[in-house]
Amino acid sequence: MGQNAADAEQSAHLRKRIRSWQRAALPGSGTGTAHGKVILLGEHAVVYGAPALALPVPSLGCRARVACRFPGEGRVVGFRMVQLPPGVPSGPFLPPPHITEGPIPEGLHMVVSALLRRAELQVLPGVDILLESGVPPARGLGSSAACARAVTHALDDLLGLQLSSEAVFECVQSSETAVHGQASGIDALATGSRRPVLLAGGHVSTPAVGADGWIVVVDSGSGASTKEAVAMLRDSFAAHPGSRERFLDHSTALTLAGLRSMAGGRLAELGRRLTDCHQLLAGLGLTTERTDSLVDAALTGGALGAKMSGGGLGGCVIALAATEPEADALAALLLREHGVRCWTTRLVREAEHAGT
Ligand code: MEV
Repeated sequence: MGQNAADAEQSAHLRKRIRSWQRAALPGSGTGTAHGKVILLGEHAVVYGAPALALPVPSLGCRARVACRFPGEGRVVGFRMVQLPPGVPSGPFLPPPHITEGPIPEGLHMVVSALLRRAELQVLPGVDILLESGVPPARGLGSSAACARAVTHALDDLLGLQLSSEAVFECVQSSETAVHGQASGIDALATGSRRPVLLAGGHVSTPAVGADGWIVVVDSGSGASTKEAVAMLRDSFAAHPGSRERFLDHSTALTLAGLRSMAGGRLAELGRRLTDCHQLLAGLGLTTERTDSLVDAALTGGALGAKMSGGGLGGCVIALAATEPEADALAALLLREHGVRCWTTRLVREAEHAGT
C-alpha cells in the first residue's frame, strides 16, 4: 500500500471513530417547546422603546424536534414544518395539517448555525428539524418567535448547551430581527413566558394583575407580515414629522393607564384602554374593515374592551371578559355570527415581579 493510500485509510478510520464518538456523545435528538402570544397594549410603539404588555397563549403550542445526521457538516439536512389546526388535536375529521418541506426559513437557519458554532464540536453533525406548530402564522400571534424559540430549546437539548434564558432570548431575537427587520423583543419574550410580560425601554418585568380576567382571541381570517406593518409605519412617520412622537406619547399614556387599571383589578377600565388602543392603531391605518367590525361585534356582544393585536393589517382581534362563562358566550357568538376561529387565554391575578 502506498503512503497516500495508507494516509487515506487512516484518516477514514479516524473520521469513523470521531463519528461514532459524536454519536455516543450526543443524545441523537432533542425537543423544545414554545407558545403563542397576544399584545394587550403598546404594539408598534414598543419597537421605539415605549411600553407594551403581552400575554402568553399557552393553548397555541409549538414543538420542535431536532436530530443529528452524519455526515452533515453543520448543514440543515432536512426541514419539515407541520402547521396543525390550532388548539385541537389532529384526528380523522379535522382538516389535515399543512406540511411544508424544503429549505429552512432564514431566521431559523441563523439559530442552527449560531448554536452549532457555540457547541464547538470537532465534527459538525447535520441537523434534521421537524416543527409542529399550532400557532397560526401571520396573525400577530408570535408564530415566528414561537418557532425560533422551540428550535433553540430543541438544539440546546440536543447539544447539551445549557443555555441561560438570556442566551435563549438572544437566539430567538436574532431570528426575529432577520424575519421582521426591526423587532422589539416582546414576541421573543412572551412566547417563552407563563406570565404577562411588560417591556419598556428594553427593561422586562411581570406586571401586577389585580383580578382574574379572560381574553378571547379572534382570527380575522387574513393577515400580513409584521415586517410589512412595521415598515409601513416607519415610512409614514418619516413622511409626517411629529407623528411618531404623538403616537408614542398617546400609546405610552394608554399602556400606563391600562397597567394601573390591571394592577387595581379594574377590568372595565382596562377594557376601555384596549378599545382606545384599537382606535389609535386604526388612525394609523393598521386595522382592516374586518378587524374593525370584529371589534364592534365583540363590544356589542358584551366585551369589556376589544382591539386588534400584534402587527395588524388583518390578523387577530382580542376581547376582554371578566369571567370564563362570559368569555365562552362571547366566543360562541362570534363563531356563530361571524364564523371566526376563537381561542381564550387567561389573565391570572398575581403580584408584580421584577423579571419574567
Ligand atoms: C408584534 O407582535 C408587535 C410589534 O410591536 C412588533 C415588535 O414589537 O417587534 C408590531
